[in-house]
Order: sequence, then C-alpha cells, then structure tokens
Amino acid sequence: MIAAPIAPFPAPNLVSLGDLSPDELRLVLDTALEIKANQTAYNDLLRGKRLAMVFEKESLRTRFTFDIGMQDLGGSATFLDLSNGARMGARESVRDMAKNLERWTHAIVARTYRHRTVVELAQNADVPVVNGLSELLHPCQALADTMTLIEHWGDVKGRKLVFIGDGNNTCHSLITAATKLGMDVTVCAPEGYEPDAEIERAAVASAQETGGSFTLETDPIVAVKGAHAVYTDVWASMGQEEETEERAAVFSDYAVNEQLMEYTDHAKFMHCLPAHRGHEVSRGVIDGPNSIVFDIAENRLHAQKAVLAMLLGGEGQS
Ligand code: CP
Ligand code: NVA
Repeated sequence: MIAAPIAPFPAPNLVSLGDLSPDELRLVLDTALEIKANQTAYNDLLRGKRLAMVFEKESLRTRFTFDIGMQDLGGSATFLDLSNGARMGARESVRDMAKNLERWTHAIVARTYRHRTVVELAQNADVPVVNGLSELLHPCQALADTMTLIEHWGDVKGRKLVFIGDGNNTCHSLITAATKLGMDVTVCAPEGYEPDAEIERAAVASAQETGGSFTLETDPIVAVKGAHAVYTDVWASMGQEEETEERAAVFSDYAVNEQLMEYTDHAKFMHCLPAHRGHEVSRGVIDGPNSIVFDIAENRLHAQKAVLAMLLGGEGQS
C-alpha cells in the first residue's frame, strides 16, 4: 500500500475548529477519509513520536482513540489521569506543565474543565496541543461527526442538521464545523441554554461564506421539520452534575424520541456518547436503524489519526 503524502495541519494546534477555514477543515476531513481507507499505509508515519494525554475528566472514546491512533501510526501515548479532582494548575502552573511536557513528548492532548487551560497549554508549549474536550468546545468530536455524515451522504452541502438540547461544548464545535461545510444548521435549545453568542455569530458568518444557514429555534417540532440529521447530547455535562435534576426538568420537552423523528426527513440520529436512554434520547431512536452513533464513535479514531498525522507527520515536519 502506497501512502499518500500527508499535508501539514493548517494550524499550530487544534484548540478550536473556528481557527480553520472551510477549505482547511475539508482538508483535515479528506485526510481522515484517506487514512481510514488505507489504514496500513501509515503504520510507520509517527515512529518514535510520543503523545502526552492529560485528562481532568473521565473518558472512554477520546482516551482509547488517541491512544490506539498513536499506536496505529507507529508512535506511543502516555496518559495522566487527573479525573480524581486534581485540576491542571493546582500542583504547578499550567505553563510549567507545558514546559515539562514539551521536553518529553511531541504533542499534548488535554481534556479540561476551563477552556482557558487548553489555551494556556497551547500558548506555552512548543509542541502542538489538541483540545480533547473543554467546557466550551469538543473539536475532535465534530471532526468525527462531520466525517461520518460525509461518508453517509457524500456531499453534505444543503443538508439540514438539527442539534436539540443544551448549547454545550459538543454543540459549539458541531455548529462551527457544519456551517463551514455549507450545511443548514438549526439549534433547538430552551431559553437560557442557547449556544455561546460569539460562536453563533461565527456560525452565521461561516454559513454566509459557504452558502449554508444557521438558525435558532425553541420548538423541537418546528426545528426538526425536514431534518436530514438530528443530534443530541447529555443535558448535564461533566462538571454540571449538581444541576442534573434541575436540567432534567428544563429539558423534558427536548427529548429525541420516535414521535419527534416522525417530523424529519428520515433523519440520521447522532450523539457523541455517553448517552442516557430515556432522558435526552429514547431507546428506540438511539438503538434504531437510523442511528449512526457507533459509526461516529469509530470515526473518532480515524479523524484523530488524521490530526496527529498532520500535526506530527505532515510533509515538511521532522
Ligand atoms: N464522545 C466523547 O468524547 O466520549 P468520551 O467522553 O468517552 O471521551
Ligand atoms: N457535553 C458532554 C460531552 C461528553 C463527551 C460533556 O462535556 O460532558
């Protein structure tokens, strides 16, 4: 198998997909599709390269897929588990952590509470930093989400994607990516739980550039009419556990179930996982024929391999 040349990543770090132009985002997704199609061709690309993974929060998918992805490309990964409450910046400054990690490793993946922590790591480390989820963004998730839609549909331009629920990290990165790909994006959230205003403004600007659209809607039935994909996520994210009950009441009309899906255009169902069946999504929908949640989970691996390959093994990198 002949490996196609890997382009360098279009930015020094992957903190936000907002840092990429539509063409740059498409390049990352095309690289992910190429790496998935020719998996054995890149086995040696990152030989000798080491990845540091520093996580303040629990993880199944992100942890496994970065670790396995690094191994698949010939490199190695070392995990520091801070999910017992020891946040970055407590024992020593985030800057000092960055200055240590850069001496031993070639890249850092961080999962943090404060978004600022990922930004500070990226500002201080001389090696690339990848956001493995912060309270604001989840860019690796959105790469896998949009990659999966491209696999299912080919061209995603003009397709209607609706995110229902909390305007959270997953939602932010999804709307950033989908509007850059020319999709018609609607977010349906209860009042007070809408996405970040600045991220919304950027999504509107991207949609104008790519011929897509971005709208907000509070009524789930109105929102999903004609949708080609419906996405939801947990109502209480990591760090919001004490709000679980209050949020369950606020979001009770925003559950994705078979009745709601009837209003769509045979929509695919999407979720970043972990999911709570009987809360944000019914069993029948997430385990039904239109659910693509495990395709997305698989693609976390391929999308992140593309990010690692481009950051560390792209042409011109040593
Ligand atoms: N979707 C996702 O990021 O899963 P984990 O929290 O298990 O990594
Ligand atoms: N919004 C969720 C995503 C988990 C992958 C959280 O932050 O907990």
